[in-house]
Amino acid sequence: MDICSIFNLQRGISMQTIYLDHAATTPIHPEVSAAYVNAMDTVFGNPSSIHSFGRTSRKLLDDARKTIAEAIHAEPTEIIFTSGGTEADNIAIFGTASAMKEKGNHIITTAIEHHAVLNSCKELEKNGFRVTYLPVDENGQITVGQVADVLTDQTVLVTIMYGNNEVGTIQPIKEIGELLKDHQAVFHTDAVQAFGILKLDVQELQVDLLSASAHKLNGPKGVGFLYQRKGLQTTPLQFGGEQERKRRAGTENVPAIVGFAEAVNIAQKEMEANSVKYNRYQTILSEVFEREGIAFEVNAKEANRLPHVVNFSFPGTEIESLLVNLDMAGIAVSSGSACTAGSLEPSHVLSAMWGSESPKLRNSVRFSFGLGLDEQTIAEVASKTAEIVKRLVK
Ligand SMILES: Cc1ncc(COP(=O)(O)O)c(C=O)c1O
Repeated sequence: MDICSIFNLQRGISMQTIYLDHAATTPIHPEVSAAYVNAMDTVFGNPSSIHSFGRTSRKLLDDARKTIAEAIHAEPTEIIFTSGGTEADNIAIFGTASAMKEKGNHIITTAIEHHAVLNSCKELEKNGFRVTYLPVDENGQITVGQVADVLTDQTVLVTIMYGNNEVGTIQPIKEIGELLKDHQAVFHTDAVQAFGILKLDVQELQVDLLSASAHKLNGPKGVGFLYQRKGLQTTPLQFGGEQERKRRAGTENVPAIVGFAEAVNIAQKEMEANSVKYNRYQTILSEVFEREGIAFEVNAKEANRLPHVVNFSFPGTEIESLLVNLDMAGIAVSSGSACTAGSLEPSHVLSAMWGSESPKLRNSVRFSFGLGLDEQTIAEVASKTAEIVKRLVK
């Protein structure tokens, strides 16, 4: 039986599972859920309607927009609500490419972007755009110098993620913003993993576009936003009504947006404490692994990293058996590998960091932290993981 079928079989088995895959998605916060359900139960008007039902919805939408704008030091009119991070990335990339096509056809990105960015760029290549995929070092890092080296007068878009979803590496976004401030290129950052975890200020970063998604910060699924700097033009991807100042047609999902704003409020309040907690969790994992005497490596260890993501390599193990055994032990973690045709395809992020022949591609696991965890649970995860690794090492 192949690995993907084993996971499918196990899906039916219920057990007490420790969820350490918060970079994939997060559980909804009880207060977010309450705000979301309350908005759904009590307010149904179309925010574009001018009667009182519409105005009540509009007020919720405006308040949510203000909360979210303030969180990144933007103006409410600069927030475009979307169906999530993927749509925000798509509007940023296709919308800019189309709006800027008279000014050039060159795009700069990195080899380790999320597929929402990578596949959008690949699509644009079919339509006459030239895309530079910057290589990363073994820590998943690019430098501002690499961007400067490939920047031309044909460059219309630079799209570089804030923090990586697999290894947590944070890119020098502020420095790249500084480099691009007098260049025609529009600067987009996919901050889906960083928003809600780190303080982000679009003025300081000098980004023109920034993507975020609610389900990464204990908010509802299917809602996100694109920050679009005032005065910047992007060609809309969908046509219809005049919602979101004609930048994204379609009636807004008001209850989900209300939930999103509540999640942002909570994340802002708890950000610093969470950061300390998550760094401590990383340390606990490493300390227990050391104490148990297993061979391990923290991947991207030299990089400045997101606190809630840590990726370990366990030499001598194989990813399939590692994931199956962790799952059977009630530990939900992830590898960047995708189930393709019944086997696990190595992650494009890890391949970009170490080359396609590196054994680490086949023995690396991501642990990601969030709501509902504590130090004792992490210590338990670490001991069980160490036990499994000892059993599996050949
Ligand atoms: C860095 C990054 N960008 C974009 C996305 C896509 O966001 P969504 O799931 O909201 O479409 C994700 C989700 O995993 C992500 O981690």
